[in-house]
Order: sequence, then C-alpha cells, then structure tokens
Amino acid sequence: EKGGYEHFMLKEIHEQPESLANAIRGRLDFNLGSSVLSGMGTSSRDLAEINRVVLLGCGTSLHAGLVGEYAFEDLADLHAEVHQAAEFRYRNPLIGRSDLVVAISQSGETADTLAAVREANQKGAFVMGLCNVVGSTIARETGRGVYLHAGPEISVASTKAFTCQVAVLLMIALKLARGRRYSREQGMHLAKQIDSIPEFVRATIAQNEAIAELARHYADNEHAFFIGRGCMYPVALEGALKLKEISYIHAEGYHAAELKHGPIALLEEGTPVIAIATDIPGKDKTLGNVEECRARGARILGVITEGDEEAAAYMDDVIRVPACDPLVSTIPATVALQLLAYHIARIRGCEIDQPRNLAKSVTVE
Ligand code: F6R
Repeated sequence: EKGGYEHFMLKEIHEQPESLANAIRGRLDFNLGSSVLSGMGTSSRDLAEINRVVLLGCGTSLHAGLVGEYAFEDLADLHAEVHQAAEFRYRNPLIGRSDLVVAISQSGETADTLAAVREANQKGAFVMGLCNVVGSTIARETGRGVYLHAGPEISVASTKAFTCQVAVLLMIALKLARGRRYSREQGMHLAKQIDSIPEFVRATIAQNEAIAELARHYADNEHAFFIGRGCMYPVALEGALKLKEISYIHAEGYHAAELKHGPIALLEEGTPVIAIATDIPGKDKTLGNVEECRARGARILGVITEGDEEAAAYMDDVIRVPACDPLVSTIPATVALQLLAYHIARIRGCEIDQPRNLAKSVTVE
C-alpha cells in the first residue's frame, strides 16, 4: 500500500506532481487567462461585490492561507486576512456580505475550522470550502468550494494537501484578479506558470538523494531556524512545522527581518538556519540576514533558485528549485523542506507516519 516507499509521507511527497496535476486539470482557461472554478458558485457580479478575502484554517492549512493572503493582495488588489480558525470564532469577527470566507481544511472535519465556518455563515458572509475529503462536514456546510483532488492523505504530516491548497488558492486569486486589475496577458502568463507547477515539483523531487545526503548535517541538532520573507515567510513556518512534528527537533519559523529582534540571541556555533532565499523581491535582504546568522556561527542551508550563484555563495548547503513566478515558487520550495524534514526524521529513527501525540484529524477544540 505504500507503493514501495518506506513511509506514507515519502510516498505522498512523491505523489505531488500527480496530485497537483489533478488539482489543476480543467481549471485553467489559457485563452481568457483565468481559471474555471464552477464549485465556487459565483457569478461575475458576486465576484465584483467581494471586497475582502478572509482565510481560515489550522496548522498546515493555516500556512496555505498565509500564502494565499499574499496572492490575493498582490494579484487581485484585494484586502486579505488570515485567521487561525479557533481565534476567529472567539473574537468578534467583523465580516458580512461583501467578504469571501475561504475555509481551508484537508480533512474537512477540523472542529475549530468547522465552528468558524458556522460563525461566518451566521454572519451572512460568502463562505466556501477548500477541502480534500469529498463530502466532509466542512465541504457540506459550506455548500460551495473547490475540492483539492489531492487523493487520500494517510501520513499525519500533511504534504500533498498543502501544495494543492496553495495551487487552488492561486487559481482563485487569478480568477478574482482578472475581474480587477489583471490584464488578459498577465492572466495568461500566470495560468501557464500554474500549469507548470507539477513540472517544477518534479524537478525539486529529483534532488531527493542529494537532500537525503545533506540532511545528515542537520540531524544531530536539537534546534533549527527557518527564515523567509514575503510569500516565503509562510513557507518558513511550514518548513519548521514539518520538521518539529516528525523529527521532534525544536524548530522555529521566523520572518527573516524578525531574527534580530530577539531570536538571534539563540544562535550558536553550528545552529542550523534554513533560509528560503529564492529569487523573489526582498531576496537581497534575506541574504543580508543570512550573513548575520553566519557571523554568529550558524550553519546555513539555503533553498535558492536554480542558477543563482550569488545566493549559493552565502550558503553551506543548497537545495535548488526551478526559476518561476514568486508565488508559484512557494510550492517547490515547500516540497524541498518536506523532503528535508523527512530525511532528518528518518536519520533520527522517528515514527514518521505516526508522530507521538498527533492525530490525522483534530475533531475536538
Ligand atoms: C500538520 C498537519 C496539521 C493539519 C491541521 C489542520 O502536518 O497536518 O497541522 O494541517 O490539523 O487539518 P485540516 O487541514 O484537516 O483541517
């Protein structure tokens, strides 16, 4: 059932080119430079009335929402905010008819996300689900949405659901962008980039052996930092979450600029710093932060864009991802970090598919 892989997690990481192709297939209109997401159940008038996007989720799904926030703002000029689903419910969420609420949940059963969906429905917002499990409670209660089509995710640590969530969020953002400031040409360009995601991910997975090799340098530490800026900040959070949940290494994800406001005090000789420094706006600033870490003796692993020798020169080790649109590159960058976490956990002899204290679906608040 693991298809020859040692763990479900590794199998699911390798399935991503296929699961992403399934999430994307039939949903892009190259001619109009837009996306076709019929499950959203929106007319162009509905779309025009939306003036804010509120993204809800927990854990890895929350991190997908954080990437989505950049996409809605950058592409569609839409005010976007992300709420941890539990928090959303226990404050007084100021939402109403002009808000598009996107509930993100692989299982579609997470209690906090479900409660937030009920609250948003109650307040009359335009609520949709981004679920993987067909017919799940959140999918049913939202009544509209976009299924991920990632296929069953068995490993407790979420991998292919995350990358499909981001791909679908990019398609929703593209659709909204086209009704706003995005031209047909811009839309066509992004549609082609989204269509190439499976290929970008395949090229990243092709480095599996090399990642397994460099993971040895990071398996003996009890702490690690992940840093990134812009849309790579949520990728840093997701990389840290993956590492801590399966390897039990204490990992922190930080915005690269935030390090010197406190956490840099923890760096010692050999502390691992994983810098997501792909070629996106702000990369030079991230490289500057890498330099500050190096000066404190940190060992730096960079996730960089293929061919970027300038960035490579800052790093002790590198994982290269294909050159692509910045938002799209969050997907291969995350795949690189999934493989890194996997190999570190394997070297440490951890129960990868069933980490201690965790359950696949969290149905209590
Ligand atoms: C981490 C992980 C969890 C889930 C979270 C939400 O790898 O799997 O953080 O992402 O429990 O689950 P869903 O997406 O099913 O609502």
